[in-house]
Amino acid sequence: MTETTHHRWIRWPDGGQPRQLGFGADYNPEQWPREVWDEDVRLMREAGVNIVSLAIFSWARIQPAADSWDFSWLDDIMDLLHANGIAVDLATATASPPPWLTAAHPEILPVDREGRTVWPGGRQHWRPTSPVFREHALALVSAMAERYGSHPALAAWHVNNELGCHNVYDFSDDAAGAFRRWLQDRYGTIGALNDAWGTAFWSQQYGDWEQILPPRLAATHPNPTQQLDFKRFSSDVLKDYLRAESEILRRATDVPVTTNFMVSTGIPGMDYADWAADVDFVANDHYVRPGPQAMDELSFSANRTGNIAGGKPWFLMEHSTSAVNWQPINFAKKPGELARDSLTHVAHGADAVCFFQWRQSSRGAEKFHSAMVPHAGEDSDMFRSVTALGRTLEQLAPITGSVRRPARAAIVFDWTSWVASEQDSHPTSRFNYHQEALDWYSAFLALGVRADVVPLETNLANYDVVITPGLYLLTAGGAARLTEYVNAGGNLVTTYFSGIVNEHDHAWLGGYPGPLRDLLGIRIQEFGPLDDGETAGLDNGLTGTLWTDRIDVTDEATEVLASYKTGNQAGRAAITRRRAGAGSAAYVSTRLGATGLEPVLAQLLAAAGVGSELPEALRGKVELAIRQNGDAEFWFLVNRTADAVDLAGLEGQRLAAARDGEEHDGGGEDGEEDDGGTGGGRNGRLAPRGVAVLARNRIFDGTGSSR
Ligand code: GLA
Repeated sequence: MTETTHHRWIRWPDGGQPRQLGFGADYNPEQWPREVWDEDVRLMREAGVNIVSLAIFSWARIQPAADSWDFSWLDDIMDLLHANGIAVDLATATASPPPWLTAAHPEILPVDREGRTVWPGGRQHWRPTSPVFREHALALVSAMAERYGSHPALAAWHVNNELGCHNVYDFSDDAAGAFRRWLQDRYGTIGALNDAWGTAFWSQQYGDWEQILPPRLAATHPNPTQQLDFKRFSSDVLKDYLRAESEILRRATDVPVTTNFMVSTGIPGMDYADWAADVDFVANDHYVRPGPQAMDELSFSANRTGNIAGGKPWFLMEHSTSAVNWQPINFAKKPGELARDSLTHVAHGADAVCFFQWRQSSRGAEKFHSAMVPHAGEDSDMFRSVTALGRTLEQLAPITGSVRRPARAAIVFDWTSWVASEQDSHPTSRFNYHQEALDWYSAFLALGVRADVVPLETNLANYDVVITPGLYLLTAGGAARLTEYVNAGGNLVTTYFSGIVNEHDHAWLGGYPGPLRDLLGIRIQEFGPLDDGETAGLDNGLTGTLWTDRIDVTDEATEVLASYKTGNQAGRAAITRRRAGAGSAAYVSTRLGATGLEPVLAQLLAAAGVGSELPEALRGKVELAIRQNGDAEFWFLVNRTADAVDLAGLEGQRLAAARDGEEHDGGGEDGEEDDGGTGGGRNGRLAPRGVAVLARNRIFDGTGSSR
């Protein structure tokens, strides 16, 4: 990986690129009377806020009617922020069309798969393919660019907001027309489409492009390739919309352009790895999902975002200080979690930490969503924690611009397999692509071994071990790359429901996993999904759920690492590994879950010579992530437990340590300062849910390249 600093980072107001991390929030001053704004900037300065996202939902305020514009309030707040040294990530304000527009042009409203109109009243009620929406929205973008392009507070442009958050799948007539054009580009002839979609099945053959529709409500299982192409198309049209706004902004100004991605569990609509080249820097929004793997998922998503950003710094545009408002039960964060969550993103490459939102709303659907300034006001633990985090980020200024230090192992997270593997009419409806990948990641965390979460297109040659969980859709080219990787010395680990179909969702023939069969030295004749609650025992003491495969070992070089002891596959191989070329290819045929994967992963990593960089006592308790810059490297140690952890024995100068509401200085050269006043060894102790950052000299591995 080449070491660059920012791809193109925010333009700080003084024109330079000072070494400072961004800190701030979405700021919605239009919800408050003018006098509150002065109070806002005073508190922002106190907290160390240096950037806010403005005007995200301000369309109706900026353009109250088709032919009337009001920028005065926005001029005022832009000037006020600038006078107080606070930069602006300025939204194009197109996210939520105002009532005058939807009343005059109801044809911009999205339509769901059952043909129901999605009415105004919420937000993001617009069709990504509507030419009428585009005309009005792009006029607003031009007006914003013209008015604020040279405003000294302007640090970045924020296109729309969370593109696709509520409107990724639109089944309207506009969408139907755009889908047909997209398909013509993809297939060229109707014959090629018929072949790709397998329309000989159920009398679905098309005679003309005009006959094609989005996969609207059908009598039964709509054509799977049609569904998959509609997902690809839906991601592409939003990317196209991002480009349309960006082009206007780039033509008018030289200010970097971004939009906030939603790299997270449960949001599969957009192929962000494919969008990354269209933004000047990657920005992401992430909200913690409660559950036993909440912290792992946060790290997983931050890691995935960092790799979508190509290892370069990215912008955490939104996360929450505490509860959200949109989960069934909106839990408050525990002490320490605010800072720990923020710094976990920084550990994985974020150079800015922002929240939704600055001041908690008193009205509207998000009035119970946490913010930096809560309903309780300035005199609150929340504001004190936020202010402490601001100080911690100031201490971390030296890490600004440093890049992710690649790990030796990677988990491939492939967008197409994610969306394709979870379609209907599969051997089980219980397969969960994201969960399987996350379970592998949890196993890495438990072992204290770093792993990068990367798109399939990444140069895998940099990794000693590559895991491809549930890589359902695998093209011939993709399989050739994996084979080449192994032949050149890589250690591939793949799992059940991998290598099953090609890019058109056509099954690979001759036994599964078609294009990886020879490499793995196995052949599967039939899947054996398990019932809810049903298990399959393995002879190594582990227990499989969800899935089994009827495996025949086809090559004498294939080693059986574990066999099934109970269930329908009893006596057959469950986990295999074959030496191939200069590397190896392993296969895990059942769901073992995070805990079950731990010993399996340990065995596979040991065989590949990949181990933990952490002292043994810290493994599993502390997550390690490393950033580097020139000869310096920064070790982020994130306490995953609710107990203090002793960091004795770790080299490095402590730059900062954090826990909510507590401020700690850097500790200086001696590294004796601790966190939480609990004493301890060379680098002290890490408070419960605390984070410490150690600056160290970079260690070279002797191969000429540093890893
Ligand atoms: C999204 C939006 C914000 C806000 C938050 C609430 O991320 O971008 O405007 O609604 O969710 O969690």
